[in-house]
Amino acid sequence: MTEEEIKNRFKKVCICRSISKGTMIDAVKNGARSVEDIRKKTGATTGNCKGTRCTPVIKEIIKEYSS
Ligand code: FES
Repeated sequence: MTEEEIKNRFKKVCICRSISKGTMIDAVKNGARSVEDIRKKTGATTGNCKGTRCTPVIKEIIKEYSS
């Protein structure tokens, strides 16, 4: 794993619920294929902004890591 990848893993994607990119990537690797799946597995999108900030980023992560 490169330094860049390590930093990425700790970066908060869902700021409201304090959920890192690494947690999202693991969810995708464990079968999550939609924002709804990610919500169920991690609790992301359920914070104060109701997913306004994190949903677009989650979609990108799903696209990037689901193949
Ligand atoms: S950043 Fe994810 S719910 Fe607000």
